[in-house]
Amino acid sequence: MLDTNLAIAGVLLAIAVALAYFVFASFAFGAGYQPTPRAAVETMLRFAELGPQDRLFDLGAGTGAIVFRAARIYRARVVGVEVEPIRVLVLRLRRRLGPFSDRITILWGSLFRLDFREATVVTAFLWPGAMARLRPKLEAELSDGARVVSHCHEIVGWNSAAYDPETKVYLYRWPDARPSGGAAS
Ligand SMILES: C[S@@+](CC[C@H](N)C(=O)[O-])C[C@H]1O[C@@H](n2cnc3c(N)ncnc32)[C@H](O)[C@@H]1O
Repeated sequence: MLDTNLAIAGVLLAIAVALAYFVFASFAFGAGYQPTPRAAVETMLRFAELGPQDRLFDLGAGTGAIVFRAARIYRARVVGVEVEPIRVLVLRLRRRLGPFSDRITILWGSLFRLDFREATVVTAFLWPGAMARLRPKLEAELSDGARVVSHCHEIVGWNSAAYDPETKVYLYRWPDARPSGGAAS
């Protein structure tokens, strides 16, 4: 009986550790795990005027709330980058089992190592510190005409083209988002 109880306790502890890892491990990299709510995803993709001609980069793809909708409904080519390996496995499984897999690329690694030059649309739901770290990289690499949409957190110092208070989505158009005074920092 004692052995059984110990075994159950061990399994429960392992599940708790795995769950804590899944949710909290990526805190160190720039954001924990929280899927973007469907209403916010809709606002983000509508603000970005996403279409089949676009190449969308989702920075911190989670389990794919943005990635798969962008490919399935809007037919965009999508790159999802995610640092946490369990979520990468989920993303790759969803990609393999779902439609439009040829339009979706899943990368395992840090978004800060990605080259944004190819992106016409960038989506993010990251913490303020990560957004601040992202800003100079976006300014150095974004192509003219690119749109950046962020859920919850603004890019401090940039001029937003639109904001939806209901879903907390910011839209930025590059290079119009550049602070007045011209030069990117
Ligand atoms: C709030 S979730 C957003 C999830 C996703 N964009 C969605 O639509 O549901 C943030 C995600 O960013 C990931 N992340 C945090 N820092 C990262 C980094 N430096 N590089 C790649 N992914 C990162 C986390 O693991 C987490 O899955």
